[in-house]
Amino acid sequence: MCGIVGYIGNNDSKEILLKGLEKLEYRGYDSAGIAVMNENVVHVFKEKGRIADLRSIVDETVSANIGIGHTRWATHGAPSKSNAHPHQSASGRFTIVHNGVIENYDILKREYLMDVPLKSDTDTEIIVQLIELFVNDGLNTEEAFRKTLTLLEGSYALALLDKQNNETIYVAKNKSPLLVGLGDGFNVVASDAMAMLQVTNRFVELMDKEMVIVTKNKVTIQKLNGDVVTRDPFIAELDASDIEKGTYPYYMLKEIDEQPLVIRKIIQNYQDKQGSLTIDQNIIDAMNDADRIYIIAAGTSYHAGLIGKQYIEKLAKIPVEVHIASEFGYNMPMLSDKPLFIFISQSGETADSRAVLVEIKKMGYKALTITNVPGSTLSREADYTLLLYAGPEIAVASTKAYTAQIAVLAILAEVTAKSRGIKIDFDLVHELGIVANAMEILCDEKDEFEEIAREYLATTRNCFFIGRGIDFYVGLEGALKLKEISYIQAEGFAGGELKHGTIALIENGTPVIALATQGKVNLSIRGNVKEVVARGANPCIISMKGLETEEDRFVVPEVHELLTPLISVIPLQFIAYYAALHRGCDVDKPRNLAKSVTVE
Ligand code: F6R
Repeated sequence: MCGIVGYIGNNDSKEILLKGLEKLEYRGYDSAGIAVMNENVVHVFKEKGRIADLRSIVDETVSANIGIGHTRWATHGAPSKSNAHPHQSASGRFTIVHNGVIENYDILKREYLMDVPLKSDTDTEIIVQLIELFVNDGLNTEEAFRKTLTLLEGSYALALLDKQNNETIYVAKNKSPLLVGLGDGFNVVASDAMAMLQVTNRFVELMDKEMVIVTKNKVTIQKLNGDVVTRDPFIAELDASDIEKGTYPYYMLKEIDEQPLVIRKIIQNYQDKQGSLTIDQNIIDAMNDADRIYIIAAGTSYHAGLIGKQYIEKLAKIPVEVHIASEFGYNMPMLSDKPLFIFISQSGETADSRAVLVEIKKMGYKALTITNVPGSTLSREADYTLLLYAGPEIAVASTKAYTAQIAVLAILAEVTAKSRGIKIDFDLVHELGIVANAMEILCDEKDEFEEIAREYLATTRNCFFIGRGIDFYVGLEGALKLKEISYIQAEGFAGGELKHGTIALIENGTPVIALATQGKVNLSIRGNVKEVVARGANPCIISMKGLETEEDRFVVPEVHELLTPLISVIPLQFIAYYAALHRGCDVDKPRNLAKSVTVE
């Protein structure tokens, strides 16, 4: 979702800001803007659409060494030039960019700003108008900024320019991610380290309800009561090449292809010197102390959680519930006596999951976050973290993070099981190795998946995915991938469930993608395929070696029965990719979606 950047130093800020915004594009946005300031003149450029559209209106002749920028994913007010950030105060003295949602903006507007004509429909404009109001009342900028922050309810990552001070960016954070990057003779701010890796890899983390005074030589972090906070910087372990597409046309294709490597990295990172899988003993103790585990996640991560439940219950014999984060918050189930919460989140920033984390921490429960982003909000605020080691995932549609989540959940289940004296009759390291090899074989079959996409999805308006047991969960993920990037209406169903209603939608030629990787239900899922074929469906059976029949469209290599989701999802990811490509969709940046969903 929205992202912000800021730069102050000796160089021209325009290009640094624009490049930074390009690196934030993956988060999802519908408009963008920058404001740069020189000799107490602020130049604001903003545009609906892509960064390329913004670039085309930026005046190249303007040179300024302080500036802020923003990508906006509309929440309050339509995507438009007037709602795009930066926003300015009535006199034009103050200019602000904001990521987050101000929940009490309407109350603040009615209480303080009834006389101020507003230029946009955004919650953000309220912030900048309040600052000006308080300055007009006699406060200096820092005091007015602080006072405004104390009034705001909701989430924000903010960067503010004051036309009367060329030397400072005023910054603040609550709930939305924000980092300050340190340089030699310059400093930067960014929602994500990736945006500023172009100039530095040294960053300081900010905590909620902190404000920062950033000049080119100094960064002063303060609490809202004015107390100064000191915090050591960290080095972002990101390679700039990790965030480039290289020769790939889309990040999604690159990230699908990276999956064998990610599985191997996970094995490496979770192995001890003797080659056994290992996990921080505190986490294993927390698993063993729990009488029930509650997995909380959204979207693709929720789908990974459904598979994680199978692993933890089957291997470690601990009961597990999996909940959609946005539902759990207000509809909390009856909790067991000793719950442990596991948050699964690629980004570690999903607001729906964070809201649950905040709630259960208040109740005194322990939480483990499984995430791809060290230092992310969910990681910091949970008691424990397990990392995915998937490398930055930039395409909005999650692929490698999903398989990484499943692999880490399998490892967690296995290590927990062994710690409980439960005998596991297979060697997970060996089996994951087989998975990585099988993934590689599948990545070499792109032409075949492109052909399937052409054959089944070129003109269809809908598509169903069916499977039983663990295949059903993979079907849910296959459907989500297809709909989010190709806009084909797609749904996943348990094989036996279609006939209870949805089969009414099957028409001549309706594609039904059926997964058949589970010996126990192989015959029943094939029976379900017959039911839909009898009603005109165009079936595409993806089975696993050893279970295949002549009617199957594609056969994936054999892997351990529990690990089939890691394999069977890959054809579905490719099929979604090619279906979107054939339809001329923007694969990496599907409409309306954001990578890091930082609003509830
Ligand atoms: C779909 C997708 C989303 C995310 C969901 C949760 O491809 O990426 O459904 O899985 O928004 O995001 P994280 O995992 O960052 O919490």
